[in-house]
This record gives sequence, C-alpha cells and structure tokens, in this order.
Amino acid sequence: MLTRRDILHQGLRAGAIAMLRTSSAHALASWQASPSQKAAPDKMTSNTSQQLQHYPLPDFGPLPAELPAESRALAGKASLKAHADRHGLIAGAAVVVRALGQDKALDELIADQYGILVPEGELKWVALRPSQDRFDFALSDTLFEFARHRRMLVRGHTLVWHNSVPKWLAEGAASLDVRQLLVEHIETVVGRYRGRVHSWDVVNEAILPKDGQADGLRKSFWFDSIGPDYIELAYRTARAADPNARLTYNDYGVETDSAEDSERRKVILALLRSMQQKKIPLDAVGIQGHIKAASQNRIGSDLREYIAAIQAMGLEVYLTELDVNEDDVASDDVSIRDAAVAETYRTFLGVALANPAVKLVLTWGVSDRRTWLNDGPTHHLKQPNRPQRSLPFDPQYRPAPAFFAICGSLDEAPKRTPTTRNQYA
Ligand code: G3I
Repeated sequence: MLTRRDILHQGLRAGAIAMLRTSSAHALASWQASPSQKAAPDKMTSNTSQQLQHYPLPDFGPLPAELPAESRALAGKASLKAHADRHGLIAGAAVVVRALGQDKALDELIADQYGILVPEGELKWVALRPSQDRFDFALSDTLFEFARHRRMLVRGHTLVWHNSVPKWLAEGAASLDVRQLLVEHIETVVGRYRGRVHSWDVVNEAILPKDGQADGLRKSFWFDSIGPDYIELAYRTARAADPNARLTYNDYGVETDSAEDSERRKVILALLRSMQQKKIPLDAVGIQGHIKAASQNRIGSDLREYIAAIQAMGLEVYLTELDVNEDDVASDDVSIRDAAVAETYRTFLGVALANPAVKLVLTWGVSDRRTWLNDGPTHHLKQPNRPQRSLPFDPQYRPAPAFFAICGSLDEAPKRTPTTRNQYA
C-alpha cells in the first residue's frame, strides 16, 4: 500500500486517490453529506481531535531536482539562521522525517536555513509505541543523525499529548498501569536522547477551558487515567532523565485578542504559577503560533503582556509552530495572498520578538509542498482547490514573501542573550 510519504514525494494524485479509497471512504462520505459541518465554525487547528488524512494531497508536480538558484543564494549570511543568530535567536522548522535523505533539494534547504529541527510527529507516542512492549526509534534516530551531521539542534515534541495516544493504550487503559507506563515512556525516550535535545515539549496542550474542569485542565486521556498530577509526574520524570534539556509547556490559542485566547492565556498563566509554587521543573513556554491572515482577531498588546508575564516568571519563550493559514484571504491572486501572509508574520513577530525572553522561532514546516494546513476538513470546505501558501518557501522551494518578512522581523528584534543551551553544540 502506498504511504503518505510515497505520495508526498512522487506527487502522485492517483496514489492519493488510492490512499483515499483504502483509508476511510466512509468518513469522507459522511463529511460530504453533513450540512451541519459545513456551517460549523472554523476549527482550523483541529487540535482537539485526531487528524486523519482523508483528502487528496495537492499535486505540485515532481520534486525540484535541485535547489533553485534564488534559494541557494540565501545560504550563509542571508539565511534565516544567520538573521536569527545575529540577534541571539535560533531559527528552525518542523520536518517530516521520512522526507529527509530522500529529497536532495529539501535536505540542502534545511541545512542552509535552520539551526534547530523538530519532528512533526516522529517523537509522539503513536509513532514511537507500536505496542506496549515495543519502542520504534527508527525515524527519530534518523532525525537526530541528520541534525548531528549538520550541527543542528533538535527539539523534542512531545511526551504527553491528548492527541497522540496509541490505540493499544487507549483501549487497554482499564487493565494497564498508565502512570507507570508514562514514567517508563519518558525515562526511555528522554534517556535515549539525553544530552542531545535542546528542549522537550513535555506536556502539550493540557488546557481546554471549555471542558469546564477545575483549573481549566483538558479532559484528556492522561487526565482521566492518572489525574491532574500527570503534569507534575511528567516534568519531574523528564528532568531526572535529562537534566540539560529545557523543559517546555507548549500550547496554542494564545496569540490574539479574542475572548477565547484571553481565557486560555489566563488559564495557562495560572497553571505555570501553580507549577512554580510546587517547584515542578519548567524552563520555557511554547507559543505555537498557528495564526491566520484575514482574521478579525488582532495580534498586539494581549500577546505582548502574555509574553511579559512569562518572562516575569523567569521562563524562556519559544515560538514553536509558526504558520499562517490564508484560507480566508478573499482573493485567489497569489501575490495578494502572499502579501497577506507576509504581513501576518510581520505583525506576530513584531510583537513577539520585541521581548528578549523569546529565544526560538520555528515554523511548522519548511515549504508549502508539505503543510498540515492542507490536511483538514475546514480547509477542504473553504478552499478545495487552493493549497495553502503558509510557509517561508513555496512548493518549488523558492523563497516566498513570508521568508523575507521573517528575516526582516529578525533584523528588527533587539539583541538578546542566547538560550542557555549552547548553540549548535
Ligand atoms: O504516516 C501515516 C501514513 O503512513 C498513513 O498512510 C496516513 C494516512 O492517514 O497517515 C499518516 O499519518 C499522519 C501523520 O500526520 C503523518 O503525516 C496522521 O494520519 C496524521 O494524523 C498526522 O497528523 C499530524 C498531527 O499533528 C497529529 O499527530 C500532523 O502531521 C502534524 O502537523 C500535527 O502537529 C500538531 C502538533 O503536534 C501540535 N500542535 C498542532 C499541530 C498541528 O495539528
């Protein structure tokens, strides 16, 4: 059977259709038939439910045989990492590990541009734990090797996430010691890469105020199986397993002045405070940064104050998953869409990078050839024939206006002391 990776790399629409047939034709049929879903509010991030691929991938044609000259010219001093470095920052991106070593131009682009990589999925439970008694480190090891050869740092993402619980664990929880399994998992995974991880997203997306729980905690598999102290357990275990990795709490929905984001920021700050009161080891807070062009919600003083509040707690701030969803830009003109995306990057980074507590800037992907923003139902309802133009490089690996917007924002950032972990160690 074709893997998603095969399709990604061969650009085979036929393969995508084959996968579509074999994956879940039923789910697709029920999506197409559901008028209520068509009227549903935008759930762009889909962070609350497993995201399955039920849609044909965009067909961008064959992979670029080599890196375009205009991108090659952006290596060295003109690269994102050099722009970042000059201001004490580190620039990075999320990568799909299966693509590494398979696509010469992409490998070169990644090596030229970034100082830190994070795997999109390969360090999550679902990827690492095919069964209770087995760990599969094949892909995560590949990433660490790729990074080591190119003297790049690696972020660990993620040890505890409601959206990556293997079936055997979710279904067998009643008869399993989930607490012990979590401890063993963290000890094994963090222990294996001890000394090689810049920062671990120990717990990802632990809050969801609308679940109505005390302290705004999300009603998740981990909460239900272990209780609210799963958070404390995870951080203490991670610290013991690798005292040098910067332990991070990572979350989305904190970037704008919307009422929902405002509530989420409040709940996260309360969680951080309570962690500090209990002396739970924590070094940094991740702001995912899945933002939107053409949104009603503003990015400004609320984000500024949130970052300042985290800084006041003595924590670092990492921009961990930045991308710009442009489905709502009301023009099909590529230059208008690209300009809107670039402007959204500038607005967000202008606010965030002004604070020297911010040390890392990572986009959630490298090129528009592969972005999770093309995967979900909301995108396919809104723009079935318009793949997103969300990342610094276009599908042919040419720099987009977003690239230059990010460089410009880095140039304007005040100089800061680099994150305490040695750069490119
Ligand atoms: O690898 C399989 C492939 O073998 C199979 O044929 C195909 C068919 O469904 O699925 C492939 O797995 C997909 C995987 O991505 C690899 O691309 C999963 O279905 C899909 O659920 C998974 O989605 C990832 C999602 O997290 C869930 O792990 C997205 O790529 C990834 O971008 C997304 O990342 C999250 C962050 O971890 C947390 N913050 C939000 C962000 C975006 O949702």
